[in-house]
Parts: sequence; structure tokens; C-alpha cells
Amino acid sequence: MTDAPGFYEHLTFNAPLSDARAEALAGRLAAAGPATIVDVGCGWAELLLRVVGRVPYATAVGVDTEERHLERARVRARELGVSGRVRFENQPGDDVTAAADVVICIGSSHAFGDTAAQALAALRPLVRPGGRLVLGEGTWEVRGPVGPDRVWDDVVALPSVAGLVDLAVEAGYRPLWVETANEDELFAFESGYLADLEQWLMHHDDAQVRARADEHRSRWLHGYRNAFGFAYLTLGVPALS
Ligand SMILES: C[S@@+](CC[C@H](N)C(=O)[O-])C[C@H]1O[C@@H](n2cnc3c(N)ncnc32)[C@H](O)[C@@H]1O
Repeated sequence: MTDAPGFYEHLTFNAPLSDARAEALAGRLAAAGPATIVDVGCGWAELLLRVVGRVPYATAVGVDTEERHLERARVRARELGVSGRVRFENQPGDDVTAAADVVICIGSSHAFGDTAAQALAALRPLVRPGGRLVLGEGTWEVRGPVGPDRVWDDVVALPSVAGLVDLAVEAGYRPLWVETANEDELFAFESGYLADLEQWLMHHDDAQVRARADEHRSRWLHGYRNAFGFAYLTLGVPALS
């Protein structure tokens, strides 16, 4: 037993993403035959590594500012036997300049500013003509009761799925595939995030950690649960653009 809660130990992806959706996404991206892939705000890069594993000639770069995530990515790359073709850099996303055939940015648009529009504009030159961007982005569409005092302002300001796709089209992309996390994925993500704290609290009496877990769970279940969503857009940049 460690003397601090775990660090994202219970999540396969740091996003509301099921194994089935990740496999389908990786399969579609691999089918396009990318030679180069960049993942901005890659975390431990599970999706990136799955794409690389399917394209034997592809090389990839993942950037993130959290060294512990990058180290997990490097270990996973070695496990999958692809470490010779993948590089992980501790770098802010907006420092990336090299264009790629596939660019992935899931849950990391904040690296480019406060809005999805800013991220879509900044990521556009990173996608080679004929290439693809996978943007994973929070959305806001009220489906039931929402506790206003328990929701962060920046979450309420998120676009709807339709609004997000409109922003992508305005920024010069074509929407090749539009999908959203389902209820199970959203619940698994929140539960997996909280599991670091709750598993630890099974063996530790710590008021601070308990307050952190209770605050997050309350904001989720009494606050944003009925409105927060997460969209995965696979966006094409036409070859003749
Ligand atoms: C919600 S996580 C998503 C991680 C990963 N894309 C995934 O789907 O598993 C957001 C990530 O952005 C990273 N991050 C935060 N600020 C960043 C920045 N300015 N540049 C690059 N990465 C950043 C965090 O360390 C974290 O790994």
C-alpha cells in the first residue's frame, strides 16, 4: 500500500473512451495508411500506440507536459514492441510545428487556448493535405437536471456536438466521422478517475483526500452529469486544400 493515492491507475485512456471505440478509431486511422502521426497532449498515449501497432511503417511523436504520463507511454511502447518508432517529448502542445498524416488531440485542446475554435485553427497546419485530425472534445447539451452551483463555468461554455462540428467545418476540415461517448463511457471515466482516491481511502483515514473525492463526485453526479458530453470527431483535410 502506497502513502499517496494512485495516479490514473484505474484508467486505460484519460478520456471517456471504451476499448471498443478505441479499437474502431485506431482501425479507421490505420486504414488510411499514415506514415507520420502526432499526438498533442498524448498523456500515456494508449490510442496513439494502438494506431502505430497497426501500421508497421508509421513513426510517431507524442507530446505532453506531465512526465509521469510520458514515462507510462514509453513503458507501454516497449511492451507493444513499437518503441523504436515512437518518441515521447515533454513539450507544450503549442510548440509542435511538424505536420503529420494523422494528428490526435483528445481532451487536450486547452494546450491551444480556451476554446475549441482556437484549437481547431492551431491544429489545422499540423495536418498534411489528405490527412486526418482526431479531436476529442467536451460538449454541453442539457439532458436532465443540472446543479448550477456545482458546475464549472468553462464546462457550461462548451459547444454542443453540432456546434463543434460547425466550428470544424468553418476551420477548413471535413467531418469524416462524428461520434460521442455514451453513458457507460462517461460513467467509467468518472469512476476510474475517482478510483485512485476511493481505493486509497479504503485503507487511509485522510480528510483532505475524502473531501477531494466527495467534491468531485458531487459536481459530477449532482452537477454536470446530465449535460456534459464528449465528442470524437475524425476530421479530414482535403488533399487539394
Ligand atoms: C484529459 S488528458 C488527455 C490525455 C490523452 N490525450 C488521452 O486521451 O488519454 C489531457 C492531457 O493534456 C496534458 N497537457 C496539459 N497541458 C498541456 C500542454 N500545454 N501541452 C501539452 N499537453 C498538455 C496533460 O498532462 C494531460 O495528459
